[in-house]
Amino acid sequence: MRVAAFISGRGSNMLALSDACADPGFPASLALVLSNSAEAQGLALARERGIAAEAVPHRPFAGDREAHERAIDAILTRERIDLVCLAGYMRLLTPWFVERWRNRIINIHPSLLPAFKGLNTHARALETGARWHGCSVHFVRVAMDEGPIIAQAIVPVAAHDDPASLGARVLAQEHRLYPHALGLVASGAAQVEGERVILRDHALPPAAINPPDGRK
Ligand code: GAR
Repeated sequence: MRVAAFISGRGSNMLALSDACADPGFPASLALVLSNSAEAQGLALARERGIAAEAVPHRPFAGDREAHERAIDAILTRERIDLVCLAGYMRLLTPWFVERWRNRIINIHPSLLPAFKGLNTHARALETGARWHGCSVHFVRVAMDEGPIIAQAIVPVAAHDDPASLGARVLAQEHRLYPHALGLVASGAAQVEGERVILRDHALPPAAINPPDGRK
């Protein structure tokens, strides 16, 4: 399965996917990294690893989001991409693109969905006094941060946490969770049935990626 990672910045989740794909036994290869910003740090990091990396800046499309995504779609077709992994891609996708790639786009989000959709998830988790936080990988639907959940990892909230400390522990789990979830999808072990993800019997139990003490 040929995968494209969409990024907008740092690209640490993209690198975690790239590490997993470097294993010859892994059922996916990272064929392309795309960004809506030519300045995204992750583009240079991908190129250092020999991965094709392109920017398709959204600004020249002057607010025509679908035109921007048609340009992206042409690149995905050219590169024979099978699956898109959103990895810190900070733009909402249009219904046109989401439906064209239905069940072929997955996203990582830094919360235990359906809690804390959107931005500033760590600060919001702390504000509510949540005892547990974490991250989720899900198939993408038109509504932001919605769609069938593939896998989640749980992080306990500590009394002394601030958004940065909590976010760092969640990010460490993201780097484990996303390759795990991509493996489930690319191997066919995770499939969408009626807007839920069904894991076939041989799939790793989700508990395998939820260490009880929240450490790596
Ligand atoms: C990650 O924490 C990811 O979960 C989040 O952006 C960060 C990107 O970091 N994504 C979202 O908030 C999307 N709703 P990275 O560029 O180092 O992977």
